[in-house]
Amino acid sequence: MTSALVATARTLVGEGRGLLAMDESNPTCNKRFAAAGIPQTEEARRAYRELIVTTPGLGRCISGAILYDETIRQRDGTGVLLLDRLLEAGIIPGIKVDRGAKPLALHPGETVTEGLDGLRERLTEYADMGARFAKWRGVIALGEGLPTRSCLAANAQALARYAALCQEAGLVPIVEPEVLMNGDHGIATCLAATETVLRAVFQELDRQDVVLEAVILKPNMVLPGLDCPDQSTVRDVAEETVRCLSRCVPAAVAGIAFLSGGQSGELASARLDAINLIARGGGGRTPWPLVFSFARAIQHPALNIWHGEDDQIGSAQQALYHRANCNHAALRGDYTHAMETSPALRRAS
Ligand code: 13P
Repeated sequence: MTSALVATARTLVGEGRGLLAMDESNPTCNKRFAAAGIPQTEEARRAYRELIVTTPGLGRCISGAILYDETIRQRDGTGVLLLDRLLEAGIIPGIKVDRGAKPLALHPGETVTEGLDGLRERLTEYADMGARFAKWRGVIALGEGLPTRSCLAANAQALARYAALCQEAGLVPIVEPEVLMNGDHGIATCLAATETVLRAVFQELDRQDVVLEAVILKPNMVLPGLDCPDQSTVRDVAEETVRCLSRCVPAAVAGIAFLSGGQSGELASARLDAINLIARGGGGRTPWPLVFSFARAIQHPALNIWHGEDDQIGSAQQALYHRANCNHAALRGDYTHAMETSPALRRAS
């Protein structure tokens, strides 16, 4: 069992590809649809997810796709399960299994992620359906006096219990502790908080005997707050991110797949590229692959182009592929801004 899990984890992060998060819950997906002027119906969500999984060539850049409960049960227009379309494209299906971040009692402004009750049974069902990995997101807000020790402990323990249940069920856990970008804090505050969070998470994973070789960590990059007047350079973000991970993530972990967290697609690609250049450079090589597991930073342009209209599917798929391909290039340190602007390079992608 463990060797199969380790092999899946290595495939997800180890072949120069990354992950596509398309696991927005219905409320989150509806929020994005509303912002783009798309009807918020089950059929619109199904059609959009079909557009994504049938994007030509997606499997060149994407190793795994994270689905939502509704999506894993849906079919394309010809009656084929979307999960099977992913497999045909050489993409491993995964599933989001948390039930969302809920207010943490007695701790205003903080949340704890719920979903452990009944999780064993749900994991078994998803594994039987063909999912090979899972995702759980804990959310950590920064601010005056935040995060509290209570928030760190509650989220770290939930992530570790989820990870143990996944491995028991034969699924690779993606462990996602997200330090939010909201706020006016500087990059040093994010660095310190992310270090504290990661230490707490790995302590709990150890306590629950989770096999690190079959874990993928999905962290935030180390970034200044969105409202911070000093928006660090791409190079500073990359250096602080690699410094943070090198200090806190055991070498045994199979790989690291960043979330995008609300960064623009171009900035996320540029930062991922710089991270990989630093991580590969000289004596500073990191022990794990550093890939992506983006949702918004891959999907956003495509969603706006599609706009719910059938005749825009091809253009939306091109935009989706373009962002996936930019991140694929970033894993090799080959991403350049010219990929965004040169029609020839865009076509080549
Ligand atoms: P973003 O890349 O949009 O942050 O989403 C990643 C994700 O999976 C959130 O749980």
